[in-house]
Amino acid sequence: MRIAVIGTGHIGGTLGGKWQAAGHDVVYAGRSAGGDGPGGKPVATIADALVDADVVLFAVPGPAVADIAAANAAALDGKVVIDAANRMGQAEANSLAAIKSAAPGVHYARAFNTLGWENFAEPPAGANLFFAADEGARPATEELIGAVGLEPEFVGDATAAGTVDCLLALWLALVKQSGGNRRVAFCVVR
Ligand SMILES: NC(=O)c1ccc[n+]([C@@H]2O[C@H](COP(=O)([O-])OP(=O)(O)OC[C@H]3O[C@@H](n4cnc5c(N)ncnc54)[C@H](OP(=O)(O)O)[C@@H]3O)[C@@H](O)[C@H]2O)c1
Repeated sequence: MRIAVIGTGHIGGTLGGKWQAAGHDVVYAGRSAGGDGPGGKPVATIADALVDADVVLFAVPGPAVADIAAANAAALDGKVVIDAANRMGQAEANSLAAIKSAAPGVHYARAFNTLGWENFAEPPAGANLFFAADEGARPATEELIGAVGLEPEFVGDATAAGTVDCLLALWLALVKQSGGNRRVAFCVVR
């Protein structure tokens, strides 16, 4: 898959590196276009990165997502968009409403937002990553979770994004109760 990774920080850099190692074509994008990104890869403008992308990852601060989606609505429409950004302190941590209102044809997925990036860099054995996704986004999102080394656990379609987000509060509480240890993850037992 050709993946536009918007944001070159902890999440963008970690996931982009994993996906590249798994054989995907990763293009980083952000405000530092023209400079070097994770692993020395060039950073493109968001508009350029979106041109041939199959999948788009939002890995920027939550408040930035709506503006980026609005400014690139036509290019996003019809693509798989994975929303990893958290709007901390807001009623909804995800940007489902803003992304769908800008580009109604987006195949939306909510994933990679409920664990710290350290668990994407070095996934604990057997850990699950819970995600919600439209039908058109589910196969790609499952594959990309697996490529990171986590077990995908499907929660429901895009309307279940808020259910996935519940785990963010739980994860943060567990980190606090673990004395700040961010190497905490979840596992389903059936
Ligand atoms: N850190 C975690 O463990 C973690 C886990 C799950 C989800 N998340 C979520 O993932 C997102 C990214 O977190 P992070 O830890 O990767 O943050 P980070 O390391 O600070 O990186 C943020 C990236 O977003 C870019 N950015 C900031 N403001 C922007 C704007 N207005 N427009 C475009 N790009 C902008 C930054 O680019 P510049 O270099 O130009 O500033 C940088 O590349 C956040 O929404 C966070 O809530 C984080």
